[in-house]
Amino acid sequence: MDRFEPLRRRTIALVGLMGVGKSSVGRRLANALALPFRDADSEVEAAAGRSISDIFAELGEPAFREGERRVIARLLDEPPHVLATGGGAFIDPKTRELIRQKAVSVWLKTDLEVLAKRIARKDTRPLLVGKDPLEVLRAQADARYPAYAEADVTVETGDAAHHVTVDQLLRALDAHLEK
Ligand code: S3P
Repeated sequence: MDRFEPLRRRTIALVGLMGVGKSSVGRRLANALALPFRDADSEVEAAAGRSISDIFAELGEPAFREGERRVIARLLDEPPHVLATGGGAFIDPKTRELIRQKAVSVWLKTDLEVLAKRIARKDTRPLLVGKDPLEVLRAQADARYPAYAEADVTVETGDAAHHVTVDQLLRALDAHLEK
């Protein structure tokens, strides 16, 4: 048995605010574990046949949330993989409960100032358009941290290189499984 075998038995769902690296770190974590990678935002886009921005603009946020809930429920029935969720997914009580039942959840937590700088570089997120990123993040942190705190594992990451964060994640997951 290799060291990672126990980590391949359950889907690993990454949760946390926009910009924490759920997708970029998730892809690398999947690589390290030789697990498939799924990105909930991309799957929602594929299912809707349009970008997240267009879904928000044309159908509205409630329709996006509904699609997100359905897509994540479907993904959680797939064989174990690393799943990057969108920042709001784990806030939905039904989705949170499904993730609790079917996956190991990991909250990637990063300092808000670091996140604000990171997300300011990319303007495709509908919740940020025309707003100050740090203000949006502060409001989201207030509203969402209590839900994220229900994740099985919390990993605090800084501005470190992705491989450093992946190592941190692997160690935290190992420790969680040994409990
Ligand atoms: C959202 C985060 C986005 C995307 C959508 C809404 C949120 O995903 O799902 O724009 O509510 O925080 P990322 O966390 O991958 O940016």
